[in-house]
Amino acid sequence: MLELKDVHTYYGSIHALKGVSLKVEQGEIVTLIGSNGAGKSTTLAGIIGIKKPSSGTITFMGKDITKSKPHEIVGMGIALSPEGRLVFPEFTVEENLRSGAYLRKKGTFNESFDMIYELFPRLAERRKQLAGTLSGGEQQMLAIGRALMNAPKLLMLDEPSLGLAPNLVIQIFELIKKIRKTGVTVLLIEQNANLALRIADRGYVLETGSVKLTDSAKNLLKNGEVKKAYLGG
Ligand SMILES: Nc1ncnc2c1ncn2[C@@H]1O[C@H](COP(=O)(O)OP(=O)(O)O)[C@@H](O)[C@H]1O
Ligand SMILES: [Mg+2]
Repeated sequence: MLELKDVHTYYGSIHALKGVSLKVEQGEIVTLIGSNGAGKSTTLAGIIGIKKPSSGTITFMGKDITKSKPHEIVGMGIALSPEGRLVFPEFTVEENLRSGAYLRKKGTFNESFDMIYELFPRLAERRKQLAGTLSGGEQQMLAIGRALMNAPKLLMLDEPSLGLAPNLVIQIFELIKKIRKTGVTVLLIEQNANLALRIADRGYVLETGSVKLTDSAKNLLKNGEVKKAYLGG
């Protein structure tokens, strides 16, 4: 479904991605794990078209999207829930969701709302509440819900568990499993490698801009190097 081949990306003289290659197949949850600064967000920015690689190719559903514009890429069915659960605090839950649905025809809004409120009953209860007054976990759910409003084929999540209390982290991960069950493919970026590998089918370990290791999530959980570096020994 999605394939990156030998992607190199620079910020000025900083060589952030040094030949990243990875694949996501339809229906999978694939996780990209790695420390701070490894290049995880840069990889997602490349896919969604906001940070163009200097070389390499990105294909989605058989089409080369390396040079496509972000709105074209979103239009093809990729959605990004960015790092830092960015919601509009002065707008209600429903207005925030609506802002994510700019590709939907007006008449189909309700389908998306229904689907999202079913996945996130907490948001349904709070649909008229200002987003800024939600808890951190609820804001994260809202950011994910908004990304789902365009009915994407591939949902990319950048560190959805960051800064959340452990019980909320569990809820977010349960939610990601439910989202996959609705037929959405998921590319999950995480520093919480332990939990990410528990819900993912496969994983990639990114280190200073290169894929160091890739395997089934099961095998990565058992891998000595991964345990030592990312799973607390
Ligand atoms: N806007 C930017 N300007 C300059 N350097 C950046 C920028 N964004 C990221 N970088 C650098 O690129 C590298 C990869 O960053 P990033 O993709 O954000 O990593 P991660 O998401 O894995 O923490 C880091 O060295 C980071 O400092
Ligand atoms: Mg990041």
